[in-house]
Amino acid sequence: QDIPVICLDGPTASGKGTLAAELAHRLGYHYLDSGALYRVTAFAALRAGLELDASNESAIAAMAQTLPVRFIGGRVLLDEFDVTDAIRSEEGGMNASKVSVLPAVRTALVALQHSFARLPGLVADGRDMGTVIFPDAPLKVYLTASAAQRAQRRHKQLISKGIPATIDILRADLEARDARDMNRATAPLKPAQDALLLDNSGQSVEESVAQVFEWWVARQ
Ligand code: C5P
Repeated sequence: QDIPVICLDGPTASGKGTLAAELAHRLGYHYLDSGALYRVTAFAALRAGLELDASNESAIAAMAQTLPVRFIGGRVLLDEFDVTDAIRSEEGGMNASKVSVLPAVRTALVALQHSFARLPGLVADGRDMGTVIFPDAPLKVYLTASAAQRAQRRHKQLISKGIPATIDILRADLEARDARDMNRATAPLKPAQDALLLDNSGQSVEESVAQVFEWWVARQ
């Protein structure tokens, strides 16, 4: 049976996570936070003492292949450890971006990502959901927002959690991560040919949700 999948791809801090979680909640669908899988893989590799570079590609891929990760009530567990806060840091994002350029690591995570597609449906958030992981998905959305706006959002998020941050540094970091994600050889960040583009720079979360909802209903 065909499982309905909505793909949300886009650059760092474009609001994909918030939008995807909200859509999944409203539709009663499952939610795949694919970035978390790359973050956890990087975390597990560092914990095992591996440097995140091509010389360790097969060792990191082997870990990704049998990644003991579980998503429970909004928390991310690696083995029995709650790594949610550790992987969500800016450094966690940069580390994820380093392992995500390694083709064998990407391949190792394919089956796990596919396993999230279950009835009644899935909202999948990432960089290559529409281009590589779920190429036949009936709705693919490519989210963008200006770098200034994304840096501002990330800043607000961090400050609200009591984590000190500087907008200029955040912006430089997210632009560096975007550049790596867009320029890698395997599964680079780009809109799928049949993706609908949504620039949410001036939008509230509610407005973005309403827009994607409208597109989804039109596809039924
Ligand atoms: O989405 P998030 O910021 O958690 O992703 C962290 C990093 O993981 C991204 O910068 C990207 O390098 C990588 N990633 C990826 N493919 C995905 C999701 C994330 O390469 N589908």
